[in-house]
Amino acid sequence: MTRILQISDLHIMPEGQLFQDAIDTAAALRQMLSGLAGLLPAIGPVERLVISGDLTETGCKGAYDHLRDIMAEAALPWRAIPGNHDCREAMRAFAAQEGWMPDHGPINWREDLDDVTILGLDTLVEGAAHGAVTDTTLAWLEATLRDLRHRPVLIFMHHPPFDTGISAMDAIGLSPNPRFEGLLRDHEGPVQIACGHVHRMITGAFAGRPVTIAPSTSHAVGLDLRMEGGITFIPGHSGAILHDLGARCRTLLISPDDLG
Ligand SMILES: [Fe+2]
Repeated sequence: MTRILQISDLHIMPEGQLFQDAIDTAAALRQMLSGLAGLLPAIGPVERLVISGDLTETGCKGAYDHLRDIMAEAALPWRAIPGNHDCREAMRAFAAQEGWMPDHGPINWREDLDDVTILGLDTLVEGAAHGAVTDTTLAWLEATLRDLRHRPVLIFMHHPPFDTGISAMDAIGLSPNPRFEGLLRDHEGPVQIACGHVHRMITGAFAGRPVTIAPSTSHAVGLDLRMEGGITFIPGHSGAILHDLGARCRTLLISPDDLG
């Protein structure tokens, strides 16, 4: 059994600033981290905490400095991938002391745990809101999956690879990539995909593989499935995901009510 906690879309601002002058994303993250630490005796042991992108709202050094202070209190070893609001080089500097952070190029990483290998895939297109799996990342993924052979894989990527029905978010989704889809379909072992970006718990499938989208730690995207629907934010409505992997795989939603 290998258990992994996922949090997503922290949208941390520089210290003293609120998201859209209204939402204290830093307080929400502190509350989430302390709540998860309190829950650990009931759900543990947990091997890793993975942050699936949008660590900051602004991508600036001040926001990452603020996040560094908050993450110093995390009860678990953590890893992260970038989201569309992140800046790759600022994020690299922020996590430069972490052994998993590549010193150049896309922020892709691999970690072999007991029952599963977790992979971080960088889908950030700097300066854009949509995501893409670049040729560099595809080549890395192809070589990594070939090396892993039959081993179970849990892939973290910020942008979900399927349309959610929330049109305004799908418009800034992952660019279609048949090679990426083929790679995942052809892997000989089990594959699960864990995403963020949409700030809601949503499940779906891609390349015949189960996909879970995690809620944000501080605010949800409004539920609007109309073609002309826009993006609105709902404070709260937060959560985390527990990936429970082994002979049987389970994906559990952790809501604020679980955190005491
Ligand atoms: Fe986000």
